[in-house]
Amino acid sequence: MSKLWGGRFQKESDRLMEDFHSSISFDRRLYKYDLQGSMAHARMLGKVGIITAEEAERIVEGLKEILADIEAGKAEFSVQAEDIHMNNEQLLTEKIGDLGKKLHTARSRNDQVALDVRMYLKDEIIETIGLLVELQKTLIELAEQHPDTVLPGYTHLQRAQPVTLAHHLMAYFQMFSRDVDRLKDCYRRTNVMPLGAGALAGTTFPLDRQFVAEQLGFDRISENSLDAVSDRDFAVEFTAAAALIMMHLSRFCEEIILWSSAEFAFIELDDAYSTGSSMMPQKKNPDVAELIRGKSGRVYGDLQALLTMLKGLPLAYNKDMQEDKEALFDAVDTVKKCLMLFRPMLATAKFRTENMARAARGGFTNATDLADYLVYKGVPFRQAHEIVGRAVFYCISKEKTLEELSLEEYREFSPVFDEDVYKAIDIGHCVSARKVPGGPAREAVEKAIKRAKQEMQSFLTGRS
Ligand code: ARG
Repeated sequence: MSKLWGGRFQKESDRLMEDFHSSISFDRRLYKYDLQGSMAHARMLGKVGIITAEEAERIVEGLKEILADIEAGKAEFSVQAEDIHMNNEQLLTEKIGDLGKKLHTARSRNDQVALDVRMYLKDEIIETIGLLVELQKTLIELAEQHPDTVLPGYTHLQRAQPVTLAHHLMAYFQMFSRDVDRLKDCYRRTNVMPLGAGALAGTTFPLDRQFVAEQLGFDRISENSLDAVSDRDFAVEFTAAAALIMMHLSRFCEEIILWSSAEFAFIELDDAYSTGSSMMPQKKNPDVAELIRGKSGRVYGDLQALLTMLKGLPLAYNKDMQEDKEALFDAVDTVKKCLMLFRPMLATAKFRTENMARAARGGFTNATDLADYLVYKGVPFRQAHEIVGRAVFYCISKEKTLEELSLEEYREFSPVFDEDVYKAIDIGHCVSARKVPGGPAREAVEKAIKRAKQEMQSFLTGRS
């Protein structure tokens, strides 16, 4: 089959080389954007008189038919036509004859591929934001169910201070909220229309780039033709944002895995999101959470691949850049799939709140409150810390909790202790006293939830 660029060549391509440099196996997923971009380009060529209005019309009709053919599974792509851009052009020429050969006037695959990937990514960013927002809604719903569910907060994975499940869940809300923000920001820079950059140096034809941008829903047109065809920052940015989403999901998954162990027993995953063992009949494994944790590595790899692919490239387009697609597609697919599974896994999990409360009561999570109690009575904090440290040491040797010490025992450590010490170290009180903005007390978390809902609302009405 003759190549669209065959004129300068005397020999056929090597077969292996043809396979090697062809991208149709993966860039076929851009078919819709490629066709829409071509329709906008053809209409513009017609508008400015580079082709006639009738020609533009016939090209657009042909492209629409190809779109329908592809969607009906009736179009055949070929490796010889290399990529989605030349496959679509070839299909067009097969359909409408020589007129199809006018479509590529004042355009290069270099600006075309930049356009297609940007159009694709704009849609995927919106989808990913949608999935994040769904997850955020679930977090709010769960947080509202657990304003008083106490569990230990940890540092170094050692029980530290009591918090509430609502507060813990809302911590993740914040992470995903930053993720949404990052994606919105990335969207702005993806929303730039590169057609007109040509291969690298623009074109002599009097294009109406603005008209193309408007038809395709782009905010603005690219400023520099060299940059337009060599910029993949938007793909890197998305993948970096995706890597952060995966990191957040992975940390959450790690907690879910720990929490569903018998040692913690804070959570029981629904059967629909767990798996068994082929050998051990008793097992119920948190595979979904483990897989999401594992898949974070893929997305970090995609980011690394993109950055490394780009780092040594001289301006402008280089074929290396064809490697952007599989990494980007993988990041998009992975992060979306993980979000799609994580949300229902979390929403259907049973929280074992009794176990959480029991764990919060052990492990001296109220020791800081005991020290603070002394501070309120006038003892300098450092001294209070020392006193409580000795009391804890004493408790450990007696196998007691702080609540179980008698007032006499307390007074061995400091005469300042009084009856009201027991209220100060009550776990519920330890939480409710932390009403500092951003803290775990019910009223502080309720305010955080209210703000979170406002944030969601303004997002949904587009006012953020
Ligand atoms: N398939 C190519 C890619 O994905 C399209 C651009 C090809 N341009 C070129 N000059 N060979 O990057």
